Amino acid sequence: MTPMIVEHPLLQHKLSILRNKQTGTKEFRDLVGEIATLLCYEATRDLPLEEVEIETPITMAKTKVLAGRKLALVPILRAGMGMLDGMLTLLPAAKVGFIGLYRDEVTHEPHEYYCKLPDNKDGVTIVVDPMLATGGSAAAAISMLKARGLKNIRFMCLVAAPEGVKVMNDEHPDVPVYTAALDEKLNEHGYIVPGLGDAGDRIFGTH
Ligand code: PRP
Ligand code: URA
Repeated sequence: MTPMIVEHPLLQHKLSILRNKQTGTKEFRDLVGEIATLLCYEATRDLPLEEVEIETPITMAKTKVLAGRKLALVPILRAGMGMLDGMLTLLPAAKVGFIGLYRDEVTHEPHEYYCKLPDNKDGVTIVVDPMLATGGSAAAAISMLKARGLKNIRFMCLVAAPEGVKVMNDEHPDVPVYTAALDEKLNEHGYIVPGLGDAGDRIFGTH
């Protein structure tokens, strides 16, 4: 599936500030949340609606609300946590699960250290992580969700590399990918070029 690149001007402007190495921790963290909100708007564009009848101060009216309301968000720890509050701004009633993965610095293979998922077998689950680099972490997280019976899964990131998109297409062709940018490539350390550096370190002020 071709990734959905969200090219809204507000989002692209914020992403440029995010990429700048001069941007400090507080501004970086705020921007990750704001961009997540804007991406969330796109990633939920096709959610089903149902008709309800309500009474306005003027008259009875048939209006629309989200059908089912079964939505879950799953940030990949740590960096995905930076996107969670921005998503909850639009989806305040969503269930939240967590997957802890870290990437080995040498092999770039993901290692699981935590998993707590909501029961959302009939609903839409959005996995969030700022970076889709080799794709190892996202693909592993989605396999963990599928192993627990979750089906309708979407993946949302801020910056994707072609290598990661290919892995997602090969391993999870049923999972749509939403991103603010599709960058050029990975460097020899597995970092996205031009990218924005280490997302977790920049969000949490570590090195
Ligand atoms: C980063 C990022 C993704 C992963 C992407 O996390 O947040 O989870 O790397 O790389 P991949 O596509 O090659 O798997 P990291 O492992 O650095 O952990 P952190 O979020 O705790 O900093
Ligand atoms: N993880 C990050 O945080 N940044 C990258 O560029 C690649 C993986």
